[in-house]
Amino acid sequence: MKILVIGGGGREHTIIRKLKESPKVDKIYAAPGNGGISRDAECVNIGVMDKEGMVKFAKENEIDLVFVAPDDPLAAGMVDALTANDIRAFGPRAEAAIIESSKVFSKNLMKKYGIPTAEYEVFSESAKAMAYIEEKGKYPVVIKADGLALGKGVIIAKDHAEAQAAVKEIMEDKKFGDSGNNVVVEEFLTGPEVSVLAFTDGIALKPMVSSKDHKRAYDNDEGLNTGGMGTISPNPYYTDEIAEICRKTIFEPTVAAMNSENRTFKGCLYFGLMITPDGPKVIEYNARFGDPEAQVVLPRLKTDLVDIIEAVIDEKLSQLNIEWSNDATACVVMASGGYPLSYKKGMEITGLDEDGQVEGATVYHAGTKYENGKFYTNGGRVLGITASGKTLDEALEKAYDAVGRISFEGAHFRTDIGKTANKE
Ligand code: AMP
Ligand code: GLY
Repeated sequence: MKILVIGGGGREHTIIRKLKESPKVDKIYAAPGNGGISRDAECVNIGVMDKEGMVKFAKENEIDLVFVAPDDPLAAGMVDALTANDIRAFGPRAEAAIIESSKVFSKNLMKKYGIPTAEYEVFSESAKAMAYIEEKGKYPVVIKADGLALGKGVIIAKDHAEAQAAVKEIMEDKKFGDSGNNVVVEEFLTGPEVSVLAFTDGIALKPMVSSKDHKRAYDNDEGLNTGGMGTISPNPYYTDEIAEICRKTIFEPTVAAMNSENRTFKGCLYFGLMITPDGPKVIEYNARFGDPEAQVVLPRLKTDLVDIIEAVIDEKLSQLNIEWSNDATACVVMASGGYPLSYKKGMEITGLDEDGQVEGATVYHAGTKYENGKFYTNGGRVLGITASGKTLDEALEKAYDAVGRISFEGAHFRTDIGKTANKE
């Protein structure tokens, strides 16, 4: 088979490495890929939003399967465009990807179908949003831009002044563009967070092993929200009992709700959950693999990923038994100094071999460039250093040992990935 993976980050590198394990795969292309990915696949310079370009490339190169990994092309109808041209594609259509691309949609869906989530109101006028926040007078309060905002459109305001500033930034200054035309104001929830990704063909839903993201830029969950600074799998808070509650009250009702809305979801559905004192609640849905959740979940997959993708597309997922390894995995993200705000690019990375790897770990490249046998930084999140072990501690030790052997100017990483999971 010839497979085209759309995207160019650490998640896509992970997907490509997993696909390479399949005896069914002859050739992998990545559009646009990155420096590290170029060591594992052929990178083609087509933008992730270029539907026409992608269809043309897939036809000309007789691509058997396209894996659409990032949120933007899914929301923009990349899968629709491919399937309309008889090209097999993995991922939800735009009408289903809306579960991630509009928080107003997903909140209203949960309310309508009784799926547990934080209480909320939606506003299209900043004055009304502020009046509501003042009237409630309960802080912290959570303010979310409706649309996609690179995981940065959520502000937890500690007091009235912060709430006012957040509403102004999102709705008036349009910090996230049109994503801020509407805001969701919601109740602040507490409890450990769990990410659960699941394969679904719209009929069956098969949850993958759980994981835990670390979204804040600095140790002790300080600093700004990022796309994710590190992950572990499994998530120790996700007990069998919690998993069963999630299946009954969240996972299966979500698949059914999307079907009832004529928006059948096929692909990878991501549940961002919080285990509150009142039970698990949905913080957000994503219409795709998480990044860097994929980096710790997919290495534990024992079943051929191509078989799963085909079962999802052909709506035969219920017939497939998906197996996972019992190992623990940990991923530490090395980012450019300054991320998630401004940062420099083009720093030489040392410590990697010619394939961009180090011994004892797997290095998933997120933002790198490869030139004349050397790797250079080329993005905010640069590398995801991932290791596995019999225990979480062993995985973390191996990952941090590898991190210690890699360097570039301004490199920043958290030193406490997985630590709170052991402590809390
Ligand atoms: P989201 O992009 O919706 O996942 O939000 C980003 C992060 O903000 C989440 O991972 C949580 O840590 C936090 N967050 C979002 N909504 C809430 C909420 N209602 N209560 C507490 N924390 C929240
Ligand atoms: N790591 C969170 C996400 O992919 O949305």
